[in-house]
Amino acid sequence: MSKEIIVSGIRPTGNLHLGNYLGAVSNFVKMQYEHNCYFFIADYHSLTTHPNPADLHNNVKQVLVEYLACGLDPEACTLYIQSDLPQIPELYMMLNMHANLGELERVASFKEKARTQPNNINAGLLTYPVLMAADIIIHKATKVPVGKDQEQHLEMARTFGNRFNRVYQKEIFPEPYAFNYGQELVKIPGLQGGGKMSKSDGDGNVINLIDTPVIIRKKMSRAVTDTGPTEPNTQPSAAVQNLFDIMKLVSTADKLEHYKNLYANCAIRYGDFKKDLAEDMLNFLQPIREKIIDIQRNEMLLRKVAQIGKEKANESANKTIQECRQAIGFKSF
Ligand code: TYM
Repeated sequence: MSKEIIVSGIRPTGNLHLGNYLGAVSNFVKMQYEHNCYFFIADYHSLTTHPNPADLHNNVKQVLVEYLACGLDPEACTLYIQSDLPQIPELYMMLNMHANLGELERVASFKEKARTQPNNINAGLLTYPVLMAADIIIHKATKVPVGKDQEQHLEMARTFGNRFNRVYQKEIFPEPYAFNYGQELVKIPGLQGGGKMSKSDGDGNVINLIDTPVIIRKKMSRAVTDTGPTEPNTQPSAAVQNLFDIMKLVSTADKLEHYKNLYANCAIRYGDFKKDLAEDMLNFLQPIREKIIDIQRNEMLLRKVAQIGKEKANESANKTIQECRQAIGFKSF
């Protein structure tokens, strides 16, 4: 099998949650030994929400710790912090010159943000997909392991890369595609009955990798269900289906089948179901949580990992940015 170039990142917004892990990081761990992988912490991206400097640094550190705890191996992959690569904002600026206002305004994530945070519709938010394209194509990625929510951004990364090639008549960028080992991109649901697991719907909607057993049991006991099935073999409500979907990922197939049968026979007791799911969830996360606690104390390791990642990622990004500069017509005298 020929090696692909893989790029992916996560915004540092606090602790990683189960959605980040199952949608993205679990794939990173598998890919790192098979391909040429670049995994980063997207701290430039988090500037759209104006984090204070101390929070930003702590959040970056926390993602680095959690990446390592999940099994990212800095010797196998290139693990770096986005803001250690000045080539990314340079490529972002170049790509911005060919990004149209109309196409940026039509992006679903922009429209959603414009609706939910009308007091902070900044230019960074509008051009977020351009920055994301720069992240991906700076290493000439072909595959990008992400969850379903990032699909449209990947389409835009292809658009901006292709457009650059066309405008400057050079085949610099290959087309990057979203990737998941299970073929379909995944969307891990949240606990509050709504759409995806996401911090923007509050901490009660997510299970963080660092959550203690006490917290996991509490969050699961508050997970939204409904009044229960009243007729046999009916379709579960969205909230209950979400919990079945999560159970599919952390419990055995037999257990899932058992609760589905109870549901079909109107004999399910949501209290027992949620308790059982909480226990499987905390067993699933326990080894990661222990590693997080261990690595958090190891400042020297974190410094070393960030430094090595910075050097390796800069080498790759430099090559691409030189090609772009030449293509555009920037030449030294
Ligand atoms: P972010 O930081 O919101 O999420 C990081 C990764 O986790 C996945 N994810 C999920 N997958 C399935 N179900 C969920 N409930 C769920 N919640 C989060 C996301 O799909 C993502 O893969 N713009 C990106 C970060 C980014 C990036 C990039 C990714 C910046 N530059 C370049 C790939 C390549 C974001 O905000 O993801």
